[in-house]
Amino acid sequence: MKNDKKIFSIVLVLAMVIGTVALSGCTQETKNKIIVGTSADFPPFEYKDTNGTIIGFDIDLIKKVLTDQGYTVEVQDIGFDSLIPALQTGKIDVIAAAMTITDERKQQVNFSIPYYDANQAVLVKVGANVTITKIEDLKNYTVGAQTGTTGWAWVNDTLVATGMLNNDKFRSYDLYTDAVADLIIGPSRVGAIVIDSPVAKAFAKSGNVKIVLNITTNESYGFAVEKGNAELVNKINTGLTAVMATTYWEELVEKYFTT
Ligand code: ARG
Repeated sequence: MKNDKKIFSIVLVLAMVIGTVALSGCTQETKNKIIVGTSADFPPFEYKDTNGTIIGFDIDLIKKVLTDQGYTVEVQDIGFDSLIPALQTGKIDVIAAAMTITDERKQQVNFSIPYYDANQAVLVKVGANVTITKIEDLKNYTVGAQTGTTGWAWVNDTLVATGMLNNDKFRSYDLYTDAVADLIIGPSRVGAIVIDSPVAKAFAKSGNVKIVLNITTNESYGFAVEKGNAELVNKINTGLTAVMATTYWEELVEKYFTT
């Protein structure tokens, strides 16, 4: 009886030791893999090529930064408005989505150092009967923006909340690609879209839509991690600073912002 107990205790201790080793091995492994969440509707920062592969400036950049820091990277496409909740619930580790660093978002996430500056712009369909030369002209049209973005907040705060634009003329989209598709259908769907200026330029390259107004908002994009994850944000900052000082950065800018 005594011996049985002894053997049992030894087996138990052994099992605990093995279990601990196995578990820590596991965490090590999952820790080395970073899941990056994006919203692939925002060229040239994040979009899909003809095969459906997620590509773009942000994607190349965050992959380079994280692999340089010893991580492996997987990219997941999630609607922009769901990115912060996905980060908070641990479904993703990093947001790379041309996300503007704002005080409001800083309450919910930790941002990297800024890596790109932008303003807002107004897009309309080429050849449509739409005349917009100043902000007030927007009141005559249905205006669209992606839910949860700074562009959406600008329309809401500057046009809707002030009474300049009727709320039923404000159309929210889950994806900016859907907003642009509606814009091309015509003003009966949506007459104008408020969107980040570099992305407006990218959409305008198709020749179907054009920029009619620039709105100065002085935004800067950052990568976001879960609030309190100092280790990861420090590594991203170290990697980002290093990459920005190399020719890789110039090549990336060249690849996605010229031609
Ligand atoms: N910069 C804007 C913001 O932070 C828009 C970002 C939209 N990004 C995207 N991948 N759809 O709100």
